[in-house]
Amino acid sequence: MQVNIIDHPLIQHKLTIMRKKETSSADFRKLLEEITMLMGYEATRDLPLEDVEIETPIQKTVGKRLTGKKIAIVPVLRAGFGMVQGLLDLIPSARIGVIGLYRDPETLKPVEYYCKLPNIENRSFIIVDPMLATGGSSVAAIQMLKDRGVKDIRLMCLVAAPEGVDTVNKAHPDVKIYTAAVDECLNEHGYIVPGLGDAGDRIFGTK
Ligand code: PRP
Ligand code: URA
Repeated sequence: MQVNIIDHPLIQHKLTIMRKKETSSADFRKLLEEITMLMGYEATRDLPLEDVEIETPIQKTVGKRLTGKKIAIVPVLRAGFGMVQGLLDLIPSARIGVIGLYRDPETLKPVEYYCKLPNIENRSFIIVDPMLATGGSSVAAIQMLKDRGVKDIRLMCLVAAPEGVDTVNKAHPDVKIYTAAVDECLNEHGYIVPGLGDAGDRIFGTK
């Protein structure tokens, strides 16, 4: 199983609060934003740097700046929407793409309804979706980007099931997965166990 688990103590602490069924939507949203920012720090650790000459008030020196590819953040609607601001706080100049997908509650298969991407030239894409359950939605989201010519894709989620990680690994071995936790399994309804319930409903206060 190829997955990067970003389990910093602050992330684990905040995730435990998110899992609690009594946590309000307001707190859930805030914590998701905070965790995404903390995870984004690790998920962007390999971004390339170049030297740049600058002048401080004291003297000339050489500093570092990001070079090469620009970043695009691509939330998978709805729940991925809750992870956008945390990454934007870290990378304010990132472009935003949007993928509309939902999981059919009967078949558990993803149904696509929207895709709008920024210019893909010389850009790394980070797909964000808090839940990686069967993996069907993430596999479809990655394929939607690849079909439009995107080459450099990362997937950031919050909680993953082992089944979902395996499915994405098999379908898209080139895509690095970042998650705060890999839970035990899926239940008979395709929900992650112990998980945190329906992320979209908890973010948007529906149901
Ligand atoms: C959830 C979640 C993922 C998907 C994961 O979305 O946000 O997109 O399910 O399940 P999978 O790995 O089995 O495909 P959902 O379809 O509930 O839509 P929502 O975000 O609109 O609530
Ligand atoms: N989608 C969710 O929101 N939660 C799960 O546990 C599985 C899919």
